[in-house]
Amino acid sequence: MPATSSLCPAIANRWSPRAFSDRPVSNADLRHLFEAARLAASCFNEQPWRFVIATKEKAADHDKLLGLLVPPNQQWAKQAWLLGVTAGKKTFTHNGAPDRFGLHDAGAALASVAIQASYMGLQVHGMGGFDAARARTELGIPEDFEIGAAFALGYVEGPDEPPADRKRKSLEEIVFGMEWGRPAL
Ligand SMILES: Cc1cc2nc3c(=O)[nH]c(=O)nc-3n(C[C@H](O)[C@H](O)[C@H](O)COP(=O)(O)O)c2cc1C
Repeated sequence: MPATSSLCPAIANRWSPRAFSDRPVSNADLRHLFEAARLAASCFNEQPWRFVIATKEKAADHDKLLGLLVPPNQQWAKQAWLLGVTAGKKTFTHNGAPDRFGLHDAGAALASVAIQASYMGLQVHGMGGFDAARARTELGIPEDFEIGAAFALGYVEGPDEPPADRKRKSLEEIVFGMEWGRPAL
């Protein structure tokens, strides 16, 4: 493993907690968090990402998003101040052609939010465990948008530290030279 000391601290300290606190996150802070998404890179600068979010300030909306999650995720996500779902536009706006990077770019935008959150002493936990079909109908997500991930965002209850035993593939397993599978680094 490379030394983490040279890593951006917000990346090194980002993790996916389950022990969220229900401490409110101010709307000003939420604007900073999603500003990080707004500034993400995207194919043709399409900015295909969209986020449907609800905070505990509107309990009924928060409950509605919570109800889309699979029960094991509901167990811990119910505490988080904010719940959300991402979507990526499937077509380019300028010519209507398919944009196969829509969901890719939406994921990159959520990663930016997660890093900004870590920088601000918050964390994001992405979730695939939710009912995307119900999300489409109940949240009115248009057909031209592919549904990405659900996510929880908030302060962490207790120590905000990634677990010491994080399991990760080695760089040799993920970064190849010009021959697939041959480590580049
Ligand atoms: C798209 C996506 C879907 C995920 N789905 C779930 C999920 O449904 N439930 C869950 O507890 N964690 C989920 N996770 C969290 C991953 O398990 C977690 O990111 C991974 O174990 C690495 O841990 P770390 O984020 O703390 O570094 C998801 C993460 C992503 C990015």
